[in-house]
Amino acid sequence: MGISEEFIMTTISPGFKRPITLYRNNQNMKKQRLAGGSSSGDGSLNYTHLQDERRKLPIYTTRHRLLKALQPMSSAIVIGETGSGKTTQLPQYLYESGQHKKLMIACTQPRRVAAITVAQRVAEEMGDQLGHTVGYCVRFEDCTGKDTKIKYMTDGMLLREAIHDPLLKRYSTVILDECHERTIHTDVLFGVVKKAQAERKERGMILLKIIVMSATMDVDHFSNYFNKAPVLYIEGRQYTVKIMYTSEPQSDYVFSALAAVFQVHEESPPNEDILVFLTGQEEIESAVKSIKDIAKDLSQDSPPLIVCPMYAALPSNLQLRIFQHTPKGSRKVIVATNIAETSITIHGIKHVIDTGKVKAKVFNPFSGLDLLKVVNTSKAQAWQRSGRAGREAPGTCYRLYTESEYDQMRDNTLPEIQRCNLSSVILQLLALGIEDVLNFDFMDKPSKESLENAVNQLELLGAVIKDIKPKLTPEGRKMADFPLEPRLAKVILAAKDHSCLEEILTIVSALSVDSVYHTPASKKDDAVAVRNKFMASEGDHLTLLNIYRAYKGVNCNKQWCHDNFLNGRNLRTAVDVKKQLKEICTRQQLPVESCGQDTTAIRKCLCAGFFMNAAELQKEGQYVTVSSRKPVSIHPSSSIFQCKPAYVIYNELIQTSKCYMRDLSVVDADWLYDVAPSYFRRKLSKK
Ligand code: CDP
Ligand code: MG
Repeated sequence: MGISEEFIMTTISPGFKRPITLYRNNQNMKKQRLAGGSSSGDGSLNYTHLQDERRKLPIYTTRHRLLKALQPMSSAIVIGETGSGKTTQLPQYLYESGQHKKLMIACTQPRRVAAITVAQRVAEEMGDQLGHTVGYCVRFEDCTGKDTKIKYMTDGMLLREAIHDPLLKRYSTVILDECHERTIHTDVLFGVVKKAQAERKERGMILLKIIVMSATMDVDHFSNYFNKAPVLYIEGRQYTVKIMYTSEPQSDYVFSALAAVFQVHEESPPNEDILVFLTGQEEIESAVKSIKDIAKDLSQDSPPLIVCPMYAALPSNLQLRIFQHTPKGSRKVIVATNIAETSITIHGIKHVIDTGKVKAKVFNPFSGLDLLKVVNTSKAQAWQRSGRAGREAPGTCYRLYTESEYDQMRDNTLPEIQRCNLSSVILQLLALGIEDVLNFDFMDKPSKESLENAVNQLELLGAVIKDIKPKLTPEGRKMADFPLEPRLAKVILAAKDHSCLEEILTIVSALSVDSVYHTPASKKDDAVAVRNKFMASEGDHLTLLNIYRAYKGVNCNKQWCHDNFLNGRNLRTAVDVKKQLKEICTRQQLPVESCGQDTTAIRKCLCAGFFMNAAELQKEGQYVTVSSRKPVSIHPSSSIFQCKPAYVIYNELIQTSKCYMRDLSVVDADWLYDVAPSYFRRKLSKK
């Protein structure tokens, strides 16, 4: 499977090694040297050792000047290579300089796992228990206390807080981290913090300092948006990375990635670890299995391979494996999603294999469909990925695409806000009290169609009424109270009419956590067979209900989860999520009633939120969506994969070889019509 001849060498792109050591003030273009240094770490946890580690980070030498520069600024942009110490150190520096004395320091992260692990690390570095001075807050989990001064949180959580406190009065500083990712929540936060800062100033309140942080990004664009905020550069150490392209386009990037892994493995000395970028959990698990299988057949002389998957939903004990030192004489291969691009730092990587692909949400405002699909990365992402090979020494990046394919990539990743369904965002903005949502100060305004589409969707759900401007209804206000997407919040509100809130809360909770299934790639058939007993003929939502009930029936037993190929950790989280959702329901005086075995009530209720996601069986046995007549199929993992019900509703669509519906329920044509007569206009034909 050698593919060496397929790789051709090209010189390193001039754009790669960015001008080193700059500190530039955008207004007067003054340049001055700021940083230098290196970083290392063996993960030892003792305090003195950690202090040494801190001092070795590139950001450390800039500490004094950085603080001095930031002190008078109301907004600033801080740029630095991944691993230079921005996320862990800057909040600590501000804390040490007394910035917290006034109010808290918030640091937002697009990813939940990053918020948690970084908070853990910083608490260790400060020699403090997590949840005291340093804490974190992510959806359904608040690990902060009355003494918390540095709070790592997901961008979504800060947005939620802003609903109750638009001026963000608890914070002296908000650090918006990983901004290059341009998640929908970060993009909305830009506008929210900017507005809060201006209003606090107007009212003579304590200044709200805004620090926008990122690995790479279009600096001027950000700076302009934040009233020409100055840009501070921190040098990270970046060694030369040799870039290789394939000579021909690759038809199967997973296969090419495997071939590249073994080519590198054969050709390079042990202890040079490999990082492979793939797109999602299933793909990664199956690639990990293939690598392990192939490795068994290699000659005795080749170094042992340690293969680790890495994706956000991976149980945390397994995630930690990637940070462990590789034993001498062996080689570690990490197969990761784009989580390894910038949000986490892994030591020892010498070779990066970049498939050039990423899984992204893509929304078509004309069809109203939100699709999860594999797309090409941007050039900026490609450079981030190759940069992972040159953190500690020169390295190599194998790009599994041709140089001309690279040239055709977008320069920067398209902001999520321009490619996602905006109904959650609009609902939140309205709940924040922003009156003219369609003209909100977005850094990159979404298209008119997608804004209007979102408002229409909210209107259909009964959350807004369209006046001259869209206005929140009392029901919409209630929906915004739930940390859920509007459709799921609607399902909860609808449960009152069907006396099934108990069951609905269970289903919504199970849908809100990462998968409750645990399917090791090597035991796929066993897992399916064992879990067959939970399968409901009415669909996946009721299957989830069966699983949850069985789990509670055995007192949340861990061994039982293991024996039944279920993810105990995620099920436990679901129990916790349900408790929290129940509290919101109690506040809203929604009666938590049970419908017992009446699955019709439950499915009718699901229709109230998901009637827009209905699909209809055609004569030839194919499904099409009711809204846009798009051909779709039932996902093979669904409990109704073998059945052909006339109508189904689904939670999401995934595009792979086909467009698949996931998380389905069998429904009746009349139920759909009854929940939204104006949407369907005519009764749906019974088959
Ligand atoms: O934000 P940036 O990429 O600039 O760096 P960082 O996340 O602050 O990481 C700085 C260093 O802290 C890394 O090189 C790691 O050695 C260490 N770190 C860690 O050990 N565990 C974490 N959860 C986060 C960072
Ligand atoms: Mg960071």
